[in-house]
Amino acid sequence: MAKDAAPQTVAPASASASAATSEAGAAPRKLFIKTYGCQMNVYDSERMAEALGGQGYEQTDTPDDADMILLNTCHIREKAAEKVYSELGRFKQLKADKPDLRIGVAGCVAQAEGAEIMRRQPMVDLVVGPQTYHRLPDLMAQVDAGRKALDTDFPEEDKFEHLPKRPLPKRQPTAFLTVQEGCDKFCAFCVVPYTRGAEVSRPVDRILREAEDLVARGVREITLLGQNVNAYHGAAEGGDWGLARLIRRLAEIEGLERIRFTTSHPNDMEDDLIAAHGDCDKLMPYLHLPVQSGSDAILKRMNRKHTAAQYIALIDRIRAARPDLLLSGDFIVGFPGETEEDFQATLDLVRRVNYGQAYSFKYSARPGTPAAEREPVPAEVADDRLQRLQALLGEQQRAAQEGMVGREVKVLLEKPGRLPGQMVGKSDYLHAVHVETDLPVGSLVTVRITASGPNSLKGEMRPAQ
Ligand code: SAH
Ligand code: SF4
Ligand code: F3S
Repeated sequence: MAKDAAPQTVAPASASASAATSEAGAAPRKLFIKTYGCQMNVYDSERMAEALGGQGYEQTDTPDDADMILLNTCHIREKAAEKVYSELGRFKQLKADKPDLRIGVAGCVAQAEGAEIMRRQPMVDLVVGPQTYHRLPDLMAQVDAGRKALDTDFPEEDKFEHLPKRPLPKRQPTAFLTVQEGCDKFCAFCVVPYTRGAEVSRPVDRILREAEDLVARGVREITLLGQNVNAYHGAAEGGDWGLARLIRRLAEIEGLERIRFTTSHPNDMEDDLIAAHGDCDKLMPYLHLPVQSGSDAILKRMNRKHTAAQYIALIDRIRAARPDLLLSGDFIVGFPGETEEDFQATLDLVRRVNYGQAYSFKYSARPGTPAAEREPVPAEVADDRLQRLQALLGEQQRAAQEGMVGREVKVLLEKPGRLPGQMVGKSDYLHAVHVETDLPVGSLVTVRITASGPNSLKGEMRPAQ
């Protein structure tokens, strides 16, 4: 895939300093960020808002009164990428009414398409990739000076070290924390290695500092993020640490009650991580472990580097360590060359593994990826397979949810429910649970599950909590 090389020179630091000072005392400018794609984008959006906070921007939840609109985009499937252009089209009138409105595109479409975005939509002022958004203040200074700004570099420096310290206010009880970025796996269908670059792990001490800060602000559950999070190998004193060691160390932080991680690759599920699922109480019994297909021929063509039998054996080992683990997965149907027999092998694998939760997608050819060169499966065949797979996965998901009825689970209350006196939170298994309680957000309560609805569970508080 053609990376947009040649990042444009960014304005000197002094320009951003003067832009920032000229804002001092002025009314805050309003920033509207819309986030697409994976959790890593959600995390990046928070950090971008923080970076622009120093430039006098304050977040708003509508584009209508915004002084700056930033789309944090996803390139994983064609639909996701095309959404960006239809969304930009919608902002045309806003820009016509308010010529000072700044429009920026960040994230994976920015990385993949670079200057092409400005060619297709000349009203875009700023394009910034996922590895350079720490330079946003300088890039905005460039825009303020009347120039377009483009930066899709893969820089030497660690962006996290150049971002402002995370702000002080109290936070929601759950938070994402990116520990690893990028991917070296090069699955034949996937753009991530091109949009996010090579695998990089953040050093242990910086992650611990960020986690401690989050906990000091009221966070009780942290989800460690990475495109390949279980390939984590972060620098620490005395050598690299793997993800399991990092999790065990995080579990020592007082006040941090729950740890999760996503997304993992089967080939990086090492023994100590499996063991941690068995013996680390704060590591939640939920694992997202995508397999994509149950056919060895397709797995090989996808460059997944494991067979269906190896995946199943791995699942058996993880379940031996943690029998109640709720397993989640990702599937692609209609990969080039997939026959009905290959698809049946996927259904067989799903029946054998039994997922409590799963995502399934129709294959989307992505420019620059090896699979895009191959003959596609007819759309109606792929549609039909997707429906059949989703019916099976849906049944398993419902059964897993219904299996919770009568059980006691812990729920971390995240927000008020729709009905008065009701709160919504997540169980250890990541099911949404509605509970009648007057306890505040952030409480970790024990609940008996009384009913299972289409998308959530209902639970009753155990008396005297
Ligand atoms: N790093 C993660 C996945 C990131 S992308 C992993 O390896 O599991 C999330 C999911 O999107 C993938 O698991 C895959 O199921 C799906 N996906 C990726 N590229 C796709 C494509 N070209 N077409 C359809 N689905 C795709
Ligand atoms: Fe994409 Fe494969 Fe890397 Fe996941 S492991 S991000 S699917 S290339
Ligand atoms: Fe999408 Fe980029 Fe995430 S392509 S899935 S936003 S890594």
